Amino acid sequence: MSPRSSHLGAAAEKSHRHVYGRTKGKSLRSHQANLMETLFPRVSISLAEDMIVPRALFADVDDVWLEIGFGGGEHLAHQAAANPRLGILGCEPFINGVAKLIAEIHAHDLSNVRILADDARFLLERLAPASLSRIFILYPDPWPKKRHNKRRFINEETLGFLARALKPGGELRFASDIPDYIAWTLAHVSRLNREKGEAFRWTAEKPLDWRTPYEGWPGTRYEAKARREGRVPAYLAFERL
Ligand SMILES: C[S@@+](CC[C@H](N)C(=O)[O-])C[C@H]1O[C@@H](n2cnc3c(N)ncnc32)[C@H](O)[C@@H]1O
Repeated sequence: MSPRSSHLGAAAEKSHRHVYGRTKGKSLRSHQANLMETLFPRVSISLAEDMIVPRALFADVDDVWLEIGFGGGEHLAHQAAANPRLGILGCEPFINGVAKLIAEIHAHDLSNVRILADDARFLLERLAPASLSRIFILYPDPWPKKRHNKRRFINEETLGFLARALKPGGELRFASDIPDYIAWTLAHVSRLNREKGEAFRWTAEKPLDWRTPYEGWPGTRYEAKARREGRVPAYLAFERL
């Protein structure tokens, strides 16, 4: 797949950033297309401001979580319904996935979701420091070929943004079925800790803890596919120190 700028948002056009992977699939069903016209603008996160304060995006919430690369939004919608006192932000540049989540928001009347239909880095670089209590990165695109590794979402820059956005005691959850990406993430976290001061503590306590899904875990669509194909997921969790 060739790199291209996200088709959404002037910020993306001006930026050096690229979203690798598809941003568009089949045409939307008419119900979804209608909701993208009517409901999406009401829950869409604007990048007009340089600083985004997550709690200010909601009428009244106790705390805010973020999911990066929510795919079809199944996990995000589950968390939003299960945690009505939380605000949940989601970033996803694949428009058909966004349309699916919008249909779920409509069907279940979820008032605690806000969406950036674009590269999560545009949000991360604008988030007020220490403004989130949990961030999910669930089955990010693996880019297994060595020459494509640098396209992976986890890198020195994004980890720095993630550390800045999380409150002390907040949690970064990273799930993947690709052993090399799991090792890559652990290595990047430990390099960040070494070079920039202790930022994250890997919370695995017992051997193989990280093979156990998170509490109340609903699974994701990509995870189900990975399991069908015989791959074994890892569920990493890091506490922001
Ligand atoms: C392998 S899919 C996993 C989707 C979902 N989390 C799941 O487990 O079913 C990875 C997702 O990350 C999204 N993605 C890729 N780059 C992204 C970026 N820079 N910001 C936000 N999402 C991104 C892709 O569009 C894709 O939907």
